[in-house]
Amino acid sequence: MSTDAIVMLREGHKEIRRLIRSYRVERNAEAVEPFLRALTVYTYIEREGMYPRVCVLVPETEPDILRFVEEHHIADVLAAELYDMRPDDVAFDAKARLLMDIVERHMDAEDDRWFPRVRAAVGRRELQEIGAWMMRLAERAPQHPHRPSPQQMWDTVAA
Ligand SMILES: [Fe+2]
Repeated sequence: MSTDAIVMLREGHKEIRRLIRSYRVERNAEAVEPFLRALTVYTYIEREGMYPRVCVLVPETEPDILRFVEEHHIADVLAAELYDMRPDDVAFDAKARLLMDIVERHMDAEDDRWFPRVRAAVGRRELQEIGAWMMRLAERAPQHPHRPSPQQMWDTVAA
């Protein structure tokens, strides 16, 4: 398996998109739990491994990264609430769909606009080092959503 950071994150997006499709199209409520798990791990490795490093290497993309961090924060709040709900809860479907819409839009922005800019600016070796670091982070990543404070989110990128 490649440890290129962008390849890894795109693979994470693919898995998340597959689970979103399963929920929306096949109406499979059981897709929500693996979706939340995949989202939690992906969020952790990107926020701890990718964003801080790219902030240093490609500082002109910092405004994008700050926006992505906020999008992840909103997703974290919804994911933590959804994780505590049962599928028969009256708000479950509305919350799941809103979360999936936000996550999908976020992944589109990264896939279509941010990753190409990072790819153009960062060398292959550096991306492989970030990827290797993210693989180590994945081993200790939380497996279910929790709600961080906005200040913690900021500290991660500013560090
Ligand atoms: Fe992201």
